[in-house]
Amino acid sequence: MDKNFYITTPIYYPSGKPHMGHAYSSIIADIFARFKRLEGYNVLFLTGTDEHGLKIQREAEKNKKDPKKFCDELSEKFKDLTKILNLSNDDFIRTTEKRHYKSVQEIWNKLVESGDIYLDKYTGWYSVSDEAYYDENEIELVNGKKISKLSGSLVDWVEEESYFFKLSSWSDKLLKYYKDNNDFILPSSRKNEVVNFVEKGLKDLSVSRTSFSWGIPVPKNNKHVIYVWLDALTNYISALNFPDIEDNNYKRFWPADIHIIGKDILRFHAIYWPAFLLAAKLPLPKKVFGHGWILSDDKKMSKSLGNILDPIEIVNNYGIDQLRYYLVKEVSLGNDGSISMENLKNCINNDLANNYGNLCQRVFSFIKKNCSNKIPNAKKFNAVDNKLLNQLKNNVPNLIKLMNNQNLNEFIKIVVSYSFDANKYFNDSEPWSVKKTDPERMNVILFTICEQIKNISILLNSIIPIATEKVLYTMNIEKEKISIDQINNLESFNHNKELKELDILFNKIENDN
Ligand code: MSP
Repeated sequence: MDKNFYITTPIYYPSGKPHMGHAYSSIIADIFARFKRLEGYNVLFLTGTDEHGLKIQREAEKNKKDPKKFCDELSEKFKDLTKILNLSNDDFIRTTEKRHYKSVQEIWNKLVESGDIYLDKYTGWYSVSDEAYYDENEIELVNGKKISKLSGSLVDWVEEESYFFKLSSWSDKLLKYYKDNNDFILPSSRKNEVVNFVEKGLKDLSVSRTSFSWGIPVPKNNKHVIYVWLDALTNYISALNFPDIEDNNYKRFWPADIHIIGKDILRFHAIYWPAFLLAAKLPLPKKVFGHGWILSDDKKMSKSLGNILDPIEIVNNYGIDQLRYYLVKEVSLGNDGSISMENLKNCINNDLANNYGNLCQRVFSFIKKNCSNKIPNAKKFNAVDNKLLNQLKNNVPNLIKLMNNQNLNEFIKIVVSYSFDANKYFNDSEPWSVKKTDPERMNVILFTICEQIKNISILLNSIIPIATEKVLYTMNIEKEKISIDQINNLESFNHNKELKELDILFNKIENDN
């Protein structure tokens, strides 16, 4: 059977420049996508921009721009971000593209055909900033203003003709799906939130608007535009050429293996999206993972607090591998986590520069000086060598499982401990002191440590691709050859080839920097 894997990020509102929250969703998805490729899967990794709706229309008006032109410009910034973050996305979808238009209108037609759409009037609260409808009990009055208790965003009272989707009739089917597919909503704490919400009973959902025009028209009634979330969620199948369900991409990649999202948009992905798909008689995604929020110095990032950390600035100052590593090492994936420049610097210095980086530099320069710059072919391992290699090798199935369960923090903790152990092994084995007395032993030590550097580099590859590819390339292992299968393949080095030059992997950050 083909090993296919489809992973998506949320599609981002191009209403302003990209921030750390966007970078976080994307980096996490990229790590899982890359790891699956290392496991030998055909991966489709999708990201993009969510360009319709009142929020974007208003932002464009504020900037005195036509909404399409406004999106063209800002969507480019998100495309640039994929390069800056070194994302390995295979596609970038914009909801203003033709392929998406067609797909959304077809979904709409399917919902009409199934009898799930009816015309009525929406009377209630709406947050433009969240593009979400809220119930009276989800609203509170703060400083004379009505805001959503869930997001804190301002809400407006709306009364307009609207088509409704019969969400209420799907509660039982949804609850059954959650029950039968224990891993559909992760982490499990979030699953409980969703289940509780659905158990209380769902209300029908307004799925069209008439008070503005920036959206995809409802087929046969273009006074209405389709609700931006119905439009946006459909991107996950538009990119697979839906409605052409015979298309190879659709056949190979739908249903998606995982949608990576932030916890604030869980309701849309774990309730609305599967309900739309159920009604359209299409298969449901296998997993929705809702990550927590990135906080800056313990506070939510906001323009007014002036604590917004700009991912592009951090990448320019410290490097992209450094940012990627830091975000997944320091923030517990399912929970909110604080980041700070101070911690970032410590993390770069301790884990990357002093540990992994320093290990590689020391070992390669020792080989250069003492072994004509070639990795010795010496495999007479003693108990200490075997212990070092086996603890990693024997744990590979567990490490793969951790990644596939999105337990990124535990994965990284273990791999970093291997890097500390490898450093200690190199120090304790003292190849320099046996150089004269027992050169064969020195060779075995060097082979062992190179093997371990290779293994650690493969494991860290999805997290810090640039550095690990440099290290592996130094050992003459080309990018295309990097795979989980190469772990503990004792034949992966060409012992006749000299090591390539390795420039500094991670600069240490001075404290006043
Ligand atoms: N356009 C919708 C998603 C549609 S998906 C069919 C949207 N866009 S967004 O640009 O507002 O947010 C995109 C993602 O960024 C969400 O997953 C959100 O959780 C994430 N983040 C925004 N700020 C964040 C933090 N401070 N921390 C972590 N992620 C947060 O919602």
